[in-house]
Amino acid sequence: MTNRSWAERDLRVLWHPCTQMRDHADDPPIPIRRGEGVWLEDYDGRRYLDAISSWWVNLFGHANPRINAAIAGQLAQLEHVILAGFTHEPVVTLSERLVALAPKGLARCFYASDGSSAVEVALKMSFHSWRNRGESRTRFISLSNSYHGETLGALSVGDVALYKETYEPLLLKAITVPAPDCSQREPGESCADYSTRLFAAMDAALAAHAHETCAVIIEPLVQCAGGMRMYDPVYLKLLRAACTQYNVHLIADEIAVGFGRTGTMFACESAGIAPDFLLLGKGLTGGTLPLSVCLTTDAVYETFYAEYTAQKAFLHSHSYTGNPLACAAANATLDIFRDDDVLNRNRRLAAHMARATAHFAGHPHVAEVRQTGMILAIEMVKDKKTRTPYPWQERRGRAVYRYALERGVLLRPLGDVIYFMPPYVINEEEIDLLADVAWEGIDIATR
Ligand SMILES: Cc1ncc(COP(=O)(O)O)c(C=O)c1O
Repeated sequence: MTNRSWAERDLRVLWHPCTQMRDHADDPPIPIRRGEGVWLEDYDGRRYLDAISSWWVNLFGHANPRINAAIAGQLAQLEHVILAGFTHEPVVTLSERLVALAPKGLARCFYASDGSSAVEVALKMSFHSWRNRGESRTRFISLSNSYHGETLGALSVGDVALYKETYEPLLLKAITVPAPDCSQREPGESCADYSTRLFAAMDAALAAHAHETCAVIIEPLVQCAGGMRMYDPVYLKLLRAACTQYNVHLIADEIAVGFGRTGTMFACESAGIAPDFLLLGKGLTGGTLPLSVCLTTDAVYETFYAEYTAQKAFLHSHSYTGNPLACAAANATLDIFRDDDVLNRNRRLAAHMARATAHFAGHPHVAEVRQTGMILAIEMVKDKKTRTPYPWQERRGRAVYRYALERGVLLRPLGDVIYFMPPYVINEEEIDLLADVAWEGIDIATR
C-alpha cells in the first residue's frame, strides 16, 4: 500500500477533526505507517519530525518501549472493567501518585476520557458542589482568547471565535475577562507588570459576580490553542488570592501545559499555588491512550458525601472512565519522570530552542518570539512596525505548514503563529533542523 491508496480509501469514508474536508481535495491526509521517537514515517517511506507532539500529547516519543511494555503487560492482565462499584490496581496506584505529585490539597481523582470531558466534569462538579451547599450559582468566569475544548460546556468557557462562534446560540453565557497576553504589553513594560495591571479586570469581575459565580477557569501560563499567548505567574498568585477572598472555585486547566511543558511538572507550581480543581489530560499517558482526570479537594468532595440521594451524588460517568490500559500507560509515564532527569534535561533543551531561534526576532515579518519552557512560538505579521497581522485570506501559516512537510517536519501553525512543542526526547540537532525549516518556511511564505 502507498500513501495515495490509503488516502483514497480514507477520503471515501472518514471525516477528519478540525478540518474543512474540501482542503483534502488538494492536500490529501498523510497516512502514517509507524512512529519512533520524534519521527513519523509514511507509506512512501518519508519521515516527519513531530514538532507538535501530535496535538501536544506525546512526551517521550512515539512507540516508547517503556510505556508500550506497560500497556502490553496490563493487556495480558485486564483490559477494562467498569469503575462504578469496582476498582483495579493501575487506577489506585495512579491516583495515589497524582495526589502526591499535585499541588497540596488536591486529594481526589475523578477520571474521564479526554480533555474536554475533564472540563465538563470540573464545570458540573463546581456547580453541583455549590448547589449541595444550598447556593444557586450558575456562572463561570474565563479569560478572553481561552480554549478549554470543543464540547458545549467547554466551548462556553472558551473564547476562540473560530471554534465557538457557530455554536453560540447553544452555549452557557460565561463572563469573559481580558487575558493578560504579554505580547500586548507596552514597550518597556515587563510581563509581570502587565499581568498585574490586567488583573484589575479579573478583580472587578469577581467583585461584581462572585455571588453568582461557581468558578474561574484558566489555562495557567500559556493559552495554547489561542495562539500560544503567555503571561506571568504573578497573575496566578493574584487569582488564587482573589478566588479565596471572594469564595469562588479556581479551575486550573493544565490539559495542555501539565507534565513539564512550562518547565515545572505542573504550571501552577511556578506561582506556588493550588487550585480547587486541576485538570490533566493529553500527556498524562505519554500520548498513547485517551485519559484525563479532574483532581479536586476534600472540601469539594465532602459536599457530595452523604446518605444516598440522587441530587447530592455526582452521577457523572463515561464508559471508559479509569481504563486500566490507559492508567498503566500513565503510571509508566510517571515512572519516566521519576527515573530520568526529565525536567532538568528539558531546561537544557528549552535553552537550546531559545538559542536556535534567537535570530527570528530580526525577521521583517516576525513580530515576536515567545517561550515558556518547552513551548516556543513565533508570530508572523504583515507589518512588523504596527504589528498588523495578515488578514484572514492572506494568512501565511498554511504555506509554512506545507513547506515544512516537504522538508520532513510536522509543524501545524495556529493561524500565523508557528510553534514548537516537541516530545521531550528531541535532541539538539533535531531542534536545529526545526529552526532551519521554520526560518526558511517563514521566509518563503512572507516574501
Ligand atoms: C487547555 C485545553 N483544555 C482542554 C482541551 C481539550 O482536550 P481534548 O482535545 O483532549 O478534548 C485542550 C485541547 O487542546 C486544551 O488545550
